[in-house]
Amino acid sequence: MILNRRQFLEGASAMALWPRTSAAAAAPRLLEARPSRVQLVPPEFGDHPETEVWGFDGTVPGPLIRARQDELLQVRLTNSLPQPTAVHWHGLRVPNAMDGVPGMTQDAVLPGDGFLYEFPMRDAGTYWYHSHNQSTEQVARGLYGVLVVDEADAPDIDQDIVVVLDDWRLSETAQITDDFGAMHDWTHAGRLGNFIHAALTPQVSEVQQNQRLRLRLVNVATDRIMAVSLRGVTGRIVARDGMPLQTPEDPGIMVLGPAERLDIIADVSATPGENVQIVLHEGETGYLLQEIDVSGRHADAARGAVAALPDNPVTRLDSLTEARSVPLVMEGGAMGGLRQGRYKGELLTSRELVAAGQIWTFNGEAGLPAEPMVTAERGEIIRIPIQNNTAFPHAIHLHGTHFQEVLPDGGFGPLKDTLLMARQETREIAFIADNPGDWLLHCHMLSHQAAGMKTSLRVR
Ligand code: C2O
Ligand code: CU
Repeated sequence: MILNRRQFLEGASAMALWPRTSAAAAAPRLLEARPSRVQLVPPEFGDHPETEVWGFDGTVPGPLIRARQDELLQVRLTNSLPQPTAVHWHGLRVPNAMDGVPGMTQDAVLPGDGFLYEFPMRDAGTYWYHSHNQSTEQVARGLYGVLVVDEADAPDIDQDIVVVLDDWRLSETAQITDDFGAMHDWTHAGRLGNFIHAALTPQVSEVQQNQRLRLRLVNVATDRIMAVSLRGVTGRIVARDGMPLQTPEDPGIMVLGPAERLDIIADVSATPGENVQIVLHEGETGYLLQEIDVSGRHADAARGAVAALPDNPVTRLDSLTEARSVPLVMEGGAMGGLRQGRYKGELLTSRELVAAGQIWTFNGEAGLPAEPMVTAERGEIIRIPIQNNTAFPHAIHLHGTHFQEVLPDGGFGPLKDTLLMARQETREIAFIADNPGDWLLHCHMLSHQAAGMKTSLRVR
């Protein structure tokens, strides 16, 4: 075939965008989803047996995948679970076929089978990966891990620590209870656990005064919103959902909905003999999730101001004059007064919906509608005013591209992939539809997603 000039140019620009580095020639990284047993509950909670989990490479969280910006990541998934599965790369701008959504972007990977995920690391930052099949069960059993993409021009720090915040529902014998489809959870705040935990990677046991830390907080809980604070450090939030903030922010008490991430760069202010603490806030009460000893002094003084991270190659919005508005109304759930909703093309009463395991609707429809909620032309700007007409908060996640919140003053919020909305709140997001394919938009409270809160968008 003879390429015409246009095809040639397109091919050339695609290569310039996604350079294949020498790393791509190496063998893909292997990732096996399999059952295993881990000592989840630490000894300070008393004598508990190991917990049976499903983990990537048998660990929980799964292995920390570390890549360089612009590298081509290749991961070969092997499914050694008793159920089909698939891996979604949360927050990464992947080609659609690599998005890991069974029934939409790929077939679920059957037990004994595999799948090769391969995509360029376009953006630096803190991302994560998790099962996107029967996720209320598979994520609750432990199928998730963190993916860190290092900046080509990374900030100078002394210790880089990933903090995975998770929430387990365990029995007396420390086993995961198998009540994944409990309708009472699905109609309320989701499947909340009884063991909240902050897993550190690496398992740092000590830091030194005046060391500069980069803490990457990831909320992997299926449904729980976590409010956390840090003690013994002074610093700034430098990224949200992987994307650098143009102006770093004061941490204070940080609220993370399911799937949200925060990068913090902070200097250890606690003195030798004291410690750095990660505290979970529930109402007025604080619970200590992690404590790291300060073992000595690294330098005489802290390093001072924290600068913004180098930006990712993402275009931010500057105007909405050309934008198309596609409203989203969320209804249903307990105390939501839902009368009826469509499900699989049929109009059902709320009683009939519950019988079908569905209780939440997006624009009057529960479950994934046959047609996308909007078909956008490539490059089009889409704005979605979202009205939460329910009695619960929701963490709204868009696949394939980050969005920005349209603020009441007309300005734009930071680039995000998940937006935590309070009950009865109305907010608006907007984005440039530049990644072709069918993409999910759903609540990342996985119980709500399973019970109806999902739709899709098409970018042509
Ligand atoms: Cu993190 Cu559709 O998911
Ligand atoms: Cu929700």
